[in-house]
Amino acid sequence: MSIAFLLNGTPVRIEGEAPTRTLLDWLRDVRGLTGTKEGCNEGDCGACTVMVTDASGSKALNACILFLAQLHGKAVRTVEGVSGPQGEMHPVQAAMVAHHGSQCGFCTPGFVVSMAVAHLNGARDHDDQLAGNLCRCTGYAPIVRAAEAAAGEAVPEWMIADREALAGFAAGEAGVFRPADSDALAEWYLANPDGVLVAGATDVGLWVTKQLRELAPVAFLGGVEDLKGIEVQAGQLHVGACVTISALRDAVAERLPSFGELLRRYASVQVRNAATIGGNIANGSPIGDGPPALIALGATLHLRRGDEMRVMPLEDFFLEYRKQDRRSGEFVAGVSFPEFAPALRCYKISKRFDQDISAVCGCFNVTVEGGLVTSARIAFGGMAGVPKRAALAEAALVGKAWTEALVEAAAEAMAGDFSPLSDMRASAGYRMLTAQNLLRRYFQDLNGVPVSVLEVSA
Ligand SMILES: Cc1cc2nc3c(=O)[nH]c(=O)nc-3n(C[C@H](O)[C@H](O)[C@H](O)COP(=O)(O)OP(=O)(O)OC[C@H]3O[C@@H](n4cnc5c(N)ncnc54)[C@H](O)[C@@H]3O)c2cc1C
Ligand code: FES
Ligand code: FES
Repeated sequence: MSIAFLLNGTPVRIEGEAPTRTLLDWLRDVRGLTGTKEGCNEGDCGACTVMVTDASGSKALNACILFLAQLHGKAVRTVEGVSGPQGEMHPVQAAMVAHHGSQCGFCTPGFVVSMAVAHLNGARDHDDQLAGNLCRCTGYAPIVRAAEAAAGEAVPEWMIADREALAGFAAGEAGVFRPADSDALAEWYLANPDGVLVAGATDVGLWVTKQLRELAPVAFLGGVEDLKGIEVQAGQLHVGACVTISALRDAVAERLPSFGELLRRYASVQVRNAATIGGNIANGSPIGDGPPALIALGATLHLRRGDEMRVMPLEDFFLEYRKQDRRSGEFVAGVSFPEFAPALRCYKISKRFDQDISAVCGCFNVTVEGGLVTSARIAFGGMAGVPKRAALAEAALVGKAWTEALVEAAAEAMAGDFSPLSDMRASAGYRMLTAQNLLRRYFQDLNGVPVSVLEVSA
């Protein structure tokens, strides 16, 4: 491997490292930049947050699940580069001091980088921006106060310098396989069907940091430009596989607000900035948040193998636990779904509001015309070995009058749809009762009753 990027404004070239060495490891062990901390080493705590800038802007990312090869041609700024060249404090650092935002300090570098990126991007939703940074001792109030206090201060010039410096930076050849388009990817994957595709690495990163797996050969999808598009055509949104969850959230926030809200609670800013919708679908997790919403929307999956394209209803892709209808050398090219669906509601139930995996994720899309249910799509995550529709509950609804009594009958029918598991997230009984209650909640929600604690005001 031979990759190059800007590190705190200075070009670096790395030769001979494994392409799947993590940035965190390299920063601390090779460069001695120990300000970036290792907490969990799995994307959960934000202690390793760095700023990465490329043509799409500046983003907070978790260095512990970011492979060196993903950084080729980009600019990385660690906490050491958040203060100025003469040691001037960044406004968020000064505010953290003034507002007592740090006690033991272990989490502080990660918070400071997340805050500095939000400050640069003008993001004022501080709770969301910091949901991926865990602090065990200060409590969040002083930290959020610091973020609020710094918000009005000017962005220091060194924080903008990376964008300008990148324009004149030639990274050269990467020496790892980074296809520039899906044709090159298709050809490579046919020739290397046992190869590993790395998109955002928010799943694959853990194979390396937690399972200590060695991956080869690897294709890094970060440069596949034609899979990063979001287009509207004939009332459908066509979303490329390499679109990040952050970009998808932006695209659906106004069109499909409930889906947008679900994506707000998908992991954290750092994870959403890396994770792609293609990876979320391809990994086939029964508790992924993307698939239930997309299935409720009636999404179509686009697969490609060599020159051959296949399309299928998304729900048909998931065959059984961790087994998908994907042939050797075939990859996810994208997904299409209706641009608008006013009746869509997505409910995520997890132990922690932010940055937690769903125990149950229920997505509902029922059309009622003239008081009668004309179509029903209900899909759940966390209720089976795959994301799955509630076929019996749907059948109980269609063609009948949309009443509370009908919803009760459908909730009863739902008991035949699933045999959920008990695990550390929830018991089988809890999952089933919750799924049935979510249908009841949906009925109230469509009738305009506030159903979220966030909607209740005194
Ligand atoms: C801290 C943390 C929190 C998380 N929280 C959530 C959450 O709240 N909700 C949720 O749904 N998920 C969550 N996840 C899981 C993860 O973010 C998602 O599954 C993610 O969307 C995977 O996308 P990726 O681009 O990072 O995939 P990668 O890790 O790069 O790849 C995942 C899998 O998909 C394959 N793959 C990637 N792209 C393609 C493609 N185009 N075609 C075929 N195969 C492909 C890879 O080879 C691999 O097998 C979380 C993960 C972490 C680390
Ligand atoms: S060390 Fe916890 S998110 Fe990276
Ligand atoms: S100050 Fe100790 S963990 Fe945040």
